[in-house]
Amino acid sequence: MATAAVETTTRFSKPAVLDPLDVSRPEIYRDDTWHEPFRRLRAEAPVYRCEHSEFGPYWSVSTYKGIVEVESLPDLYSSEAGGITIADFLPETDVKMPMFIAMDRPKHTGQRRTVAPAFTPSEMARMTDDIRRRTSEVLDALPWNEEFDWVDTVSIELTTQMLAILFDFPWEDRRKLTFWSDWAGDIELVKNEELRLQRLQHMYECGAYFKNLWDQKIGKEPTPDLISMMIHSDAMAEMDHMEFIGNLILLIVGGNDTTRNSMSALAYGLDLFPDERAKLEADPGLIHNAVQEIVRWQTPLAHMRRTATADTELMGQQIREGDKLAMWYISANRDESVFGEDADRIVVDRPNARRNLAFGHGIHRCVGARLAELQIAVLLEEMARRRMRVNVVGEPTRVSACFVHGYRKLPVTIGKY
Ligand code: HEM
Repeated sequence: MATAAVETTTRFSKPAVLDPLDVSRPEIYRDDTWHEPFRRLRAEAPVYRCEHSEFGPYWSVSTYKGIVEVESLPDLYSSEAGGITIADFLPETDVKMPMFIAMDRPKHTGQRRTVAPAFTPSEMARMTDDIRRRTSEVLDALPWNEEFDWVDTVSIELTTQMLAILFDFPWEDRRKLTFWSDWAGDIELVKNEELRLQRLQHMYECGAYFKNLWDQKIGKEPTPDLISMMIHSDAMAEMDHMEFIGNLILLIVGGNDTTRNSMSALAYGLDLFPDERAKLEADPGLIHNAVQEIVRWQTPLAHMRRTATADTELMGQQIREGDKLAMWYISANRDESVFGEDADRIVVDRPNARRNLAFGHGIHRCVGARLAELQIAVLLEEMARRRMRVNVVGEPTRVSACFVHGYRKLPVTIGKY
């Protein structure tokens, strides 16, 4: 993620009153101490009003049931009115880049339909051999019995390659996708105007680069990549420049940090629970369930935000029109009433792992979920074929943010089992 060391010229100051149940504090993710406040929220206040936070007042929705209710009422709880993260839009340093994740019906429906064909089961079948070949190449190039960073060498490399293929993006420039995605998805920038301006500049660079790719495909025969699909679709063909860039950034960010952090979680999490790793090594038939379980356990996006479009009641709490709600998937995926008392553990054969909310729920449920699952499954399968075990040899460095939930660095060695 982007964390240039720039003097802070922030107008977002730490709240005068420290609320221990303010789960938007980045340090609880950096230090991995988020479990306890969420346990309390689920038990004591499943819909909780936090008055004082660096992001202003917001409601925390922390249980499985509460989030399903909010996501099932997309007209009442809007993705468009205030955006999809707890950080508000600032007109001075942000440019509105409309993207369909932050649109309501009916516009959302048309734009989502345009990219959905890139993620059908038949498309996944078509892509599997290629994903397997690239995964094999990355794994075969790893040094055995020597320390390296799993995040950069495996997780970032594999997800970036995938995006380059999806966009038919120039191969040698593919790390630009990682760079732009890291800037776009870093909501901590909200607190620093200088960094926000830098972000804006990078988004313009990204836009100009994609505009060039777009221009090269205009008037040409359709090709099976997302840019061509967008050009040849009814809903998106008439998009303005900002909408085009917004939707591309959505796909880059959507497919990047999330899958990357699941791939890092599989290395870190299986090392943390060696009995479960042994179970998986003994029975590769469990891989598909393990993928769901790892995504549940990690929850690569800790929250999504909604804004109430009318006064309403949610689980006994009075919500006012315009109120901001954070749906904490990270907490719902630990909900004892759904996943039991051992929800903090990875259990590779957990019977209901598939019920996890890491991909959201309802009309905005992740359109790329199948692709993410496929990439993670192929990685586990190819590790199994090589009898490759990842040993974590030092503490991970975690992302300090309440949106992207993941790892910056994970020192590992690999060996045979
Ligand atoms: C939406 C998570 C992978 C593209 C979402 C949402 C979540 C999510 C939580 C929003 C749901 C909501 O607002 O209700 C994840 C996770 C992933 C992943 C955990 C990996 C483990 C991907 C991939 C792509 C992608 C690989 C594409 C390449 C999108 C898009 C949306 C979305 C375009 C917007 C859908 C809509 O608004 O209708 N994802 N995602 N995601 N994701 Fe993913």
